[in-house]
Amino acid sequence: MSANSSYNPISMTLQYLKNFIKDRNVASIAPTTQATVKRVCRAIDFDKAKVIVEYGPGGGVFTRHLLDCMSPDARLVAVEKNPPFAQSLEKSINDDRLIVVCDGVERIKEILVQHGISQVDYIISGVPFSFFSEDVRHQLIKDTSSVLVPGGLFLVYQVNPDGLAELLSTAFTVGKPKREPFNLPPLCIYTAEKAAAPN
Ligand SMILES: C[S@@+](CC[C@H](N)C(=O)[O-])C[C@H]1O[C@@H](n2cnc3c(N)ncnc32)[C@H](O)[C@@H]1O
Repeated sequence: MSANSSYNPISMTLQYLKNFIKDRNVASIAPTTQATVKRVCRAIDFDKAKVIVEYGPGGGVFTRHLLDCMSPDARLVAVEKNPPFAQSLEKSINDDRLIVVCDGVERIKEILVQHGISQVDYIISGVPFSFFSEDVRHQLIKDTSSVLVPGGLFLVYQVNPDGLAELLSTAFTVGKPKREPFNLPPLCIYTAEKAAAPN
């Protein structure tokens, strides 16, 4: 099965432009490049990943790659606040492992409870942290950490990385940021790890 079969970069870029004009929270005028998607997802051990959550899937470039790599019994919860993007994901990807939720990631705890999920192995995030209020940012980091398994990874790609390392380090061990200059716009990638359970 290849979820990537329905991916068309030109029509997807037009979709980003259209959605961005109406909704500034879309925060990008083009999808993340395939090279960047692969670079971010390199940190995932797909043999072990049973539940993956995606914050802000947009047109689904990460979603498709994740589904292509995930095991048949794994699940992917994609939380997208922009209704046109969420509807288009529902329509264009036909995969029983995918749950598309049209909602804000600020409600991640409730969303997972609604779907009977208690813990998550990996969270991949493209939501624009710099657009959130200070309180929302801090609460989101707390909630994200609380739903991850011990040793789980929070993988974040971001256009504006100001203050993000400090924010992530309130709940995670944060690796050195990697720059992705050839993405449009250029991105910064962070790998944040929740502490492992004590022995
Ligand atoms: C920079 S785009 C990334 C899109 C896509 N993942 C990609 O890599 O091309 C950010 C996405 O996050 C979504 N978003 C913004 N704020 C959100 C929120 N609070 N909850 C869920 N999604 C949100 C936007 O609608 C948009 O689809």
